Amino acid sequence: MIKTRKLRDLWYGLSSKQRFFVRRLYYWPVDMLDKVMGRTNKYVPPRGSIYTGSPSGAKKYLQQGQNQLQLLKDCITLSPSDKVLDIGSGVGRTAIALSTYINKEGSYDGFDVVKQGVDWCNNGLGMDFPNFKFKYVPIFNDLYNESKLKATEFNFPYEDDRFNKIFSFSLFTHMQKEEIQNYFFEIARVLKKEGLCFSTFFLYNSENEEYIGEKPNFNFPHKEDDFRLMHKDVKSGNIAFHEDGLKTMLSKANLECVKIIDGFWKDKIRDTSKKEYQDIVVFRLK
Ligand SMILES: C[S@@+](CC[C@H](N)C(=O)[O-])C[C@H]1O[C@@H](n2cnc3c(N)ncnc32)[C@H](O)[C@@H]1O
Repeated sequence: MIKTRKLRDLWYGLSSKQRFFVRRLYYWPVDMLDKVMGRTNKYVPPRGSIYTGSPSGAKKYLQQGQNQLQLLKDCITLSPSDKVLDIGSGVGRTAIALSTYINKEGSYDGFDVVKQGVDWCNNGLGMDFPNFKFKYVPIFNDLYNESKLKATEFNFPYEDDRFNKIFSFSLFTHMQKEEIQNYFFEIARVLKKEGLCFSTFFLYNSENEEYIGEKPNFNFPHKEDDFRLMHKDVKSGNIAFHEDGLKTMLSKANLECVKIIDGFWKDKIRDTSKKEYQDIVVFRLK
């Protein structure tokens, strides 16, 4: 456990640019091998460019996207003609799966703070699926981007009432509380009246707070009022929210929680009926 924490401290001690470089270097040999063996897919970046979670080969990566699509169908009744917004679209993991699901009546918009990821998506999926659009927004995030624009002051680049489904996978686990509050206000603005939202979080309550503060390998030792941090200096590294605090934040933005579906990240013994690692929150306009 001490070894994991030391490695994590070392990793977080690097700048975001250094982290991108080290990742590419580390995966270079296996990326070369994938190429030689023909284990690539035109929409899946090489492992060294997948900065959004643990980089797997193309086959697994595509499967992860399919799992995300299934969750969206199950939790927010995603349908082919929906107009969807993917916040923190990354390198297109979810978009690849959606590209053969969303039809011509529907549309997909995604935005992200990492230009390489957005460029990758626009040069691949964006070319083949004209109703799929990816936008780069140069916003500061101490894990990913050193730009000056603040997420607390950012207005989503879309008109009011534009989307009927909005989702984010593993985004609000990498943002600070005030930034998330602003994103909730913006979600409420661009969401249609009858629309639904899906986002993943790390959540705790008074019963499991102590455990998640010290659980082996993946823990949140730094306590604030209604949230806890994994690393006190890299504030966007990983953040966990108290369920009540999160509901208050939603309410301030005229949103309400429809349901919480527990993920397995905080299980003491793995509950194999749980499909997702992070906790899922489904919410809508009040
Ligand atoms: C863990 S990755 C998940 C990416 C993608 N949703 C997926 O499931 O593959 C988190 C993503 O959020 C993006 N991100 C971080 N801060 C952001 C912000 N303020 N606005 C939009 N995207 C942001 C990161 O660049 C990164 O692509």
